[in-house]
Amino acid sequence: MCGIYCYVGKKKAIPIILEGLASLEYRGYDSSGIAYVTDKINIIKEKGKLSNLINLIDKNTDTYLGIGHTRWATHGSPNKINAHPHQQGSITLVHNGIIENYQELKKLLTEYSFKSETDTEVLACLIDKLYQESHNIIKVLAKLSELVKGSYALGIIVNDDLNSIYAVKKGSPLIVAKSDDGTFIASDIPAILKHTDKYILLNDNEIAHLTKDNITIYNERLNILNKKTYTYNGSIEDISKQDYEHYMLKEIYEQPEVIKNTLLPFLNNKQKLPNIKKYQKIHIVACGSAYHAGLIGKYLIEKYCHIETKVEIASEYRYQNNFINKKTLVIFISQSGETADTLACVKKVKNNCDTLGIINVIDSSIAREVKDVIYTNAGLEIAVATTKAYSCQVAILSLIAYYNSKTKNIINEFDNLINDLNKVLKNDYRKIADLIKDDEKIFYIGRGIDYALALEGSLKLKEISYINSVAYQAGELKHGTISLIENNTKVIAIVTDKELKDKTISNIKETKARGAKVIYITTTSLDEEGDFYDEKIIIPDNKLFQSLLTIIPIQLIAYYVAKARNCDIDKPKNLAKSVTVE
Ligand code: F6R
Repeated sequence: MCGIYCYVGKKKAIPIILEGLASLEYRGYDSSGIAYVTDKINIIKEKGKLSNLINLIDKNTDTYLGIGHTRWATHGSPNKINAHPHQQGSITLVHNGIIENYQELKKLLTEYSFKSETDTEVLACLIDKLYQESHNIIKVLAKLSELVKGSYALGIIVNDDLNSIYAVKKGSPLIVAKSDDGTFIASDIPAILKHTDKYILLNDNEIAHLTKDNITIYNERLNILNKKTYTYNGSIEDISKQDYEHYMLKEIYEQPEVIKNTLLPFLNNKQKLPNIKKYQKIHIVACGSAYHAGLIGKYLIEKYCHIETKVEIASEYRYQNNFINKKTLVIFISQSGETADTLACVKKVKNNCDTLGIINVIDSSIAREVKDVIYTNAGLEIAVATTKAYSCQVAILSLIAYYNSKTKNIINEFDNLINDLNKVLKNDYRKIADLIKDDEKIFYIGRGIDYALALEGSLKLKEISYINSVAYQAGELKHGTISLIENNTKVIAIVTDKELKDKTISNIKETKARGAKVIYITTTSLDEEGDFYDEKIIIPDNKLFQSLLTIIPIQLIAYYVAKARNCDIDKPKNLAKSVTVE
């Protein structure tokens, strides 16, 4: 949430920073801003997408140092005044995170007059006040965590030193990097790949001092650290949209490849899956689509391994009594590895139970906190709505469940999977999308694992097309929600579980009898003719990996509906990809 990009070096800073911000725009896009140094500090900010800021700036400006920000509003509405950078006294800064005690701090900073409604401006005042006392910015930043509650990643320019950028972080991600042309601070790794594939991860309470050809990192005791330099192991191609109209479409079509990359190391015994049979119970903790992947994991683990498994939304789990002990495994699922609520849950439980992360971004905060980590090799996911990372999470959970069960016949299932994924991707789902594109409410129904898919389908549709869709357990409809079904209400019914098929079809008929138009998604072996649906989508069968096949038409329907409604598919309103605030 919020992207930070800062540069100091030999090249003109503005084009570099704007390009960096463009690759971070998925983290927030309701306003943006930049501060750059000429003979003084200049600030330009604007409401709305980054393109609005770009239109205001002369890219040729003679400046070689700047800090930039793309915002997802937390405190104060998304307008020009609340946009970053914020400047108070000697300090100009950009911030990603939330200052929880900003109201208390504000009361102590009476000598300042505040221009914005943000928590960030309070931080600028606090840092300025401390700086006026010591004139040692490193010392001030080292002290910050004692005074500030919440999370922050900061890029800072100090008036007295216009050749340097300073950074510090606690809770929010930040990397620093050096190329032949200068030094960088960014909220994620892909943002710097055009310049270098080498980067350093800042840990909490570490402070970075950047000049045009040097980076010095200090710990909170002000000792200089010799930090490890990492090399990015992906490709710069990951950032390109290739010939696809949207990243989301590209990422949907990448699924056969990335699922293969995720599963093969385990199928070839190059990597080991965890033994989960030794645990009495399993908790799976995640947010959004990762939570939906967790629900599929629960069904499979309970079915194949007979271990009681509970799936919890991280923002709830962090405030619950968790009833964990040494016989509990808690699995954390996260694409970004930075989701604040999920990260807080790891920190909360990690000393009292075993923890396993299923994470996409290597060395992300959650990956570093958990005891064991499995990486989903989904590659870089840029569209805000997740598709391929979700599928890789499901793929890993399916494999964990299967490996810990008794019967194993996995290779065939896997070979068929990749071929069948490609087949399902070739079908055209635009006719179905046309059928629902003008609706304002849609129901997704299913039972068991199909309910978990219904939840993901409903989320995908509402987040990118803004249609109000809901997912229901098919058998639960009659306990209230069926009152919303009327003539022409669209119901997307998912039936891939043989055991539950007849029951679900009865529930579908109940909606049909009340005028619903039903889009029926089922598998080849369960297919049957009938008058209980209006449109039918048939998916190949796959015992273990069924959900990976079933989700494809569901994702593509959401995509084409959003496209037909002219929505900003890769950057849906009010959202951000990496949710680093609580
Ligand atoms: C929906 C979506 C979100 C994320 C959720 C968790 O399309 O992408 O619901 O799944 O914010 O994010 P991660 O997996 O990064 O923890």
